[in-house]
Amino acid sequence: MNDTSQPRKIRSFVLRGGRLTKGQQRAFERSWPRFGVEYQEHPLDLEALFGNDHPVWLEIGFGNGESLAAMAAAHPERNWLGIEVHPPGVGRLLMRIEEQGLTNIRIIRHDAVEVLEKMIPPASLAGILLLFPDPWHKKRHHKRRIVQPAFVELVASRLRPGGLFHAATDWVPYAEWILERFEARPDLFENLAGPGGYAKRPETRPLTKFEARGQRLGHEVRDLLFRRTGSA
Ligand SMILES: C[S@@+](CC[C@H](N)C(=O)[O-])C[C@H]1O[C@@H](n2cnc3c(N)ncnc32)[C@H](O)[C@@H]1O
Repeated sequence: MNDTSQPRKIRSFVLRGGRLTKGQQRAFERSWPRFGVEYQEHPLDLEALFGNDHPVWLEIGFGNGESLAAMAAAHPERNWLGIEVHPPGVGRLLMRIEEQGLTNIRIIRHDAVEVLEKMIPPASLAGILLLFPDPWHKKRHHKRRIVQPAFVELVASRLRPGGLFHAATDWVPYAEWILERFEARPDLFENLAGPGGYAKRPETRPLTKFEARGQRLGHEVRDLLFRRTGSA
């Protein structure tokens, strides 16, 4: 029966199939209990979760976790929260965590929008990364793009004053879309590249499979860097 009082949510992803490899399955069994966080509808205690009060950075849609593992290794003084809905990607990241002996990552396997809404306390994050989000090329699919006016407000509410939002995409029309929506809120965000500008590719952003594929296809990559206004 359809519940008409609860309109169906438009999500930014379609869950693809994809079975776990044996290696990913074993990594799940061994390491999900330590690094995985089950979805819940109340805010997390981030200090208790990581066992310290280091600044928390969150990556939305980490794919197979290449960037996240590299950034967590490069910045052990930060805590990293990765969100992804695709189980093989989560398995792959768990394998990387084991291989590299990382301790500063936790993983949530759920829709990042709901995670931000329900599990992330207001003004708690030092940074949010959105690297190569699904571009939803066709006009009739634009409503599925994760960056929407309500998302801009949600991101602003979860970042600390001075916190950073970093996006990268190899689909220039999506870069323009993101720019427009964040610049529509000068009360919430400052574009660190100046009005209408794109940021230089930060050296800290590792080259991922998606970016490499985009480069092969001749796509130009755009980085966008916005700071939550207010003093830190
Ligand atoms: C194009 S891929 C990019 C993966 C990775 N960031 C990279 O650069 O290689 C986009 C990823 O975002 C994930 N994703 C999309 N919407 C999401 C959401 N609302 N919550 C969590 N993950 C999401 C998808 O499952 C997919 O793995």
